[in-house]
Amino acid sequence: MNILVIESSPHKHGSSNLLADSFIRGAEETGHTVTVFDAGHAIIRPCLGCEVCDMSGPCCQKDDMETVRGLLLQADMAVFVTPLYYFGVSAQLKAVIDRFYSFTGKLSAKKLKTALIVTAWDANDWTMSAVSAYYETLCRYMHFKNQGMILGTGCGTVPMTKSTEFLRLAYELGKKISG
Ligand SMILES: Cc1cc2nc3c(=O)[nH]c(=O)nc-3n(C[C@H](O)[C@H](O)[C@H](O)COP(=O)(O)O)c2cc1C
Repeated sequence: MNILVIESSPHKHGSSNLLADSFIRGAEETGHTVTVFDAGHAIIRPCLGCEVCDMSGPCCQKDDMETVRGLLLQADMAVFVTPLYYFGVSAQLKAVIDRFYSFTGKLSAKKLKTALIVTAWDANDWTMSAVSAYYETLCRYMHFKNQGMILGTGCGTVPMTKSTEFLRLAYELGKKISG
């Protein structure tokens, strides 16, 4: 399978990308081909809501979203990777998702497999409630087939993350992805 991992942290070597690396190791060991797109360091402007695309493209904004669009439409699975920012996904990842608007029909018709990897500082039982509900709702609307969520609580820094079980869980999720 072709798996697209969309990272979205400003920290290239931070906690969320560390978990993404574990997932990728597991997925590659299982024989999958993984492509990483780093939205955290790409130019992806917010959706203008201009309606020029009429939800079926092309988008009037020419930026790195054109690359993501091409990669997503070729992928069998997408993994959304984000630090938790005020109980939601990062603005960088939200911009990517909002820009699905110009190809919503094409993307939802794929019934893409997806997964979510999030890291947060806190470890309350409600820390991940909003982001997981958002992701599950997105999957429902977009006909994504959720393959799993790694909700990395207590992963505020790389050393914190290394001391948790989430590295192993992300690796195991990568290992268990099947075509
Ligand atoms: C703008 C901002 C908002 C944050 N919001 C939350 C939050 O709502 N809950 C939480 O537990 N941690 C929050 N954090 C901490 C990060 O989610 C956490 O440190 C994360 O692991 C960083 O991942 P990264 O190294 O991949 O960027 C926030 C950090 C920043 C910079």
